[in-house]
Amino acid sequence: MSASIVIYGATGGIGSALARQLASAGQPLVLVGRDAGRLAALADECVATSCNAPEGGSPQGAAITVEGDACDPGLHARVAEAVGERCRGLVYAVGNLRLGPLSRVEPSQALADFQLHALGALMAAQALTAALKNCADGSAIVLCSSIAARSGFPNHASVSMAKGAVEGLTMALAAELAPKVRVNAIAPSLTRTPLAQPLTGNEKLAAGIAALHPLPRLGEAQDAAQAIEFLLSERSSWITGQILPVDGGRSSVRSKG
Ligand SMILES: NC(=O)c1ccc[n+]([C@@H]2O[C@H](COP(=O)([O-])OP(=O)(O)OC[C@H]3O[C@@H](n4cnc5c(N)ncnc54)[C@H](OP(=O)(O)O)[C@@H]3O)[C@@H](O)[C@H]2O)c1
Repeated sequence: MSASIVIYGATGGIGSALARQLASAGQPLVLVGRDAGRLAALADECVATSCNAPEGGSPQGAAITVEGDACDPGLHARVAEAVGERCRGLVYAVGNLRLGPLSRVEPSQALADFQLHALGALMAAQALTAALKNCADGSAIVLCSSIAARSGFPNHASVSMAKGAVEGLTMALAAELAPKVRVNAIAPSLTRTPLAQPLTGNEKLAAGIAALHPLPRLGEAQDAAQAIEFLLSERSSWITGQILPVDGGRSSVRSKG
């Protein structure tokens, strides 16, 4: 059986879309999340999909689950144990979105956001470095930044700061782990997942934000998942240390005025 790809945040919008896509190509997966029931249901779905894959996936071990909190160092050790000797890819699609004015940002909240978005990704990469380097065909890490790391939005101080750290981590790991492991990140704009529900759930607000994009719609989980799948694959074998915007052009294109 080929080496697994590990998805942290597997039960999330982007993580689960990615799991389904990779399973349909017969890719063995290690699914990491907080909710055992939702993880098990996703794993069953992935195993069923993988068995029908054109290349023929393997039902045994096609989707292993590991449960825990990404801020708990013990989780990463358990993930490394589940992965074994070789790992083809690591995706850290964990996050939350706590917005608020600067005057209300508690230092404890900013630290917790940093821990979840950046330190969790560092610990995950640390735990899997040996297995990733051990993959003869090369391997890849993909982290999740945000459009808000490089473009300024009000009420985003805490999450923007955390995502800035994710981008720094991406560059540092790309340098340190080359040439065996490629390291990149995606930077989505507002994407319809549970994380963004407080914004996208208000259809008037969602339509207003969609119209701000040169490609005038909101992101779907599949947009981000397809970009991650590309960055994991051989098709991006000469790409490392990059932050790929998945944002309908919002960060870089002015289509009006
Ligand atoms: N959606 C957007 O608009 C958007 C925009 C820019 C960047 N991003 C980034 O994209 C990535 C994926 O987000 P998403 O949109 O797919 O959001 P999502 O659907 O809310 O998924 C986030 C995932 O993170 C997990 N998570 C949260 N706290 C955790 C913790 N302490 N320990 C372990 N897992 C934890 C959640 O677990 P549960 O399933 O148990 O809740 C969930 O699976 C995140 O890094 C996010 O910051 C998203």
